[in-house]
Amino acid sequence: MTTKIKKKRWKAIDLYSGVGGWALGLRLAGVDVVSSYEHWGVANETNFKNNHHQAQTVDIRRLELADLPNDIDIVVGSPPCTQFSYSNRGGGGDLVDGLKDVIQFLSIVEHLKPRVWAMENVPRMAGIIEAELEEGGALHRFSKLGIKTRVLNLANFGVPQRRMRCIAGNFDFELLEAYKEKTIPLTLGKVIAALGEENVIDPLFGIKIPNFELRDHIEEAPLNDEEVRINRAAKTTHTVYNAMSFPDRLDRPVRTITATCTRVSRESIVVETNEIPKKIRRLTVRERASLQGFPITFQFYADRYSDKLRMVGNAIPPAFTYFLAHALIKTPVESVLSLVDAGKDLKCPSPPAADAAPDRAGSKYSENRRFRFAIPSLQLKSGVRFELVNRIEYSPIAWGVDFYFGTSKSIIALSLNDGLLERAKKLFSSEVLEQLNFAMEDLDSFMQTADITGMQRIWSHRGPGVTAPFMLLDQLDSAGRCLNAVLSAHEFSTQFALGEIIRSEFGDDRALKLPGLAKLARNAPLVVGGIFVGATVNSYLNRANTCFKKARGLAH
Ligand SMILES: C[S@@+](CC[C@H](N)C(=O)[O-])C[C@H]1O[C@@H](n2cnc3c(N)ncnc32)[C@H](O)[C@@H]1O
Repeated sequence: MTTKIKKKRWKAIDLYSGVGGWALGLRLAGVDVVSSYEHWGVANETNFKNNHHQAQTVDIRRLELADLPNDIDIVVGSPPCTQFSYSNRGGGGDLVDGLKDVIQFLSIVEHLKPRVWAMENVPRMAGIIEAELEEGGALHRFSKLGIKTRVLNLANFGVPQRRMRCIAGNFDFELLEAYKEKTIPLTLGKVIAALGEENVIDPLFGIKIPNFELRDHIEEAPLNDEEVRINRAAKTTHTVYNAMSFPDRLDRPVRTITATCTRVSRESIVVETNEIPKKIRRLTVRERASLQGFPITFQFYADRYSDKLRMVGNAIPPAFTYFLAHALIKTPVESVLSLVDAGKDLKCPSPPAADAAPDRAGSKYSENRRFRFAIPSLQLKSGVRFELVNRIEYSPIAWGVDFYFGTSKSIIALSLNDGLLERAKKLFSSEVLEQLNFAMEDLDSFMQTADITGMQRIWSHRGPGVTAPFMLLDQLDSAGRCLNAVLSAHEFSTQFALGEIIRSEFGDDRALKLPGLAKLARNAPLVVGGIFVGATVNSYLNRANTCFKKARGLAH
């Protein structure tokens, strides 16, 4: 008689566990998650109800090492990344504070001495770890833990999202990479289509659920016209960042799903609705969850919509941690089951989570609501741009067109005023000037009847007005296009004029040292066209502003 020896299951703990993206992947790979640690109560409730294990509400920074369980084989976790994320690259992040959580995580690893461990964070963490492990660095004392790091694109592991993450740990990264062949690439379009079916088949896990049983799949009201403008501008004509698709492309994995985004922010993923005419909407919580690699049975227990978005956006995708867990327990490639087979017994916890009401269009804005949008036809990559702005530091708020060029490290502004316009006019023949005036006729007549003093009122939704700022932006855009065309036919004189303008504005010595000058010269028709358009409109705007001040008894 042969006795079957039952293989001992590996035991794990999860630190900074959120809703349990690690726990679910580990569980599906056959690992026992003994306990999770997290200070956000509703996230723990979600983790506990879905993953059926202890999720402790604690401040990990104050956790006593002696209170941790013994005989732990695996330690995983995702210390908070806010201080390290790329949006904090400009110096907003407090590195020392962020490192406290990484140090606490590694101290726990050092104390428990698990067989393997893995930590997730934003890509920037790879460089930080490398630098801090050096002699004198904040992590130097952990060098003996055998830390390796790798930045991975989770889309390569079947997650329908181009989420770049740094994974640090002491396990076999080559084995993890080898599992890629077990995964099937998935796109945003396929996920949306699958969740829209009457009988939904989970796009990742193959679980079947009738659509009416799907939770958190309520579509938000589509974006209104103003929100569409702002959202599109944030993505296609952002004054600093590179252009991206608007709406998001359905034929590839989606961009990173974030924990926070507004209806108009650059981070928001937007798609067209099915109705005719088509409108633009953000994704539902459920769509985001599937794109984050959660099965459709997973329930997010929170009352507030924003909390559900945060739970989903913060998580590490379980569709990825499933493979990482296998790498930790050293499963040979051929023995790793597909997600569909591994997840076939997944059930929706009972009772399911209640839906939360989605966000609505904003209706209240401050009197000083800021407006700052690039004029699309007068914008080049890497920061050269003409933009329409409201100067909220003035009373009454003044509108104007600004011009910036240079490099990200040295941004130069050129004031577009009457003096500059007069000097620029003298640099062209009467024949070219006539063509320029003709090309600006529409803009001129628009400005003659524009209700400039009402623009801020409309923009801050505080009353009626005739001219919305985006109407002016459109006029500037179209005039910019026309002038660029005119001046492109007079390339030589335009180049000469630009040289003279720069020399007269900055002086001979400084002009030659200006950063980004070659780029301006290569695009002289656009730049000079922008100077004409911007200075002409500024002249109208300044006059309107002076009249407004006089009417309010503010002018001297
Ligand atoms: C990047 S998220 C991790 C998400 C998690 N891996 C998941 O799949 O949902 C970081 C988590 O750390 C938690 N956190 C931050 N500081 C903490 C602390 N001092 N103690 C406990 N949890 C903390 C946050 O509430 C957040 O849920």
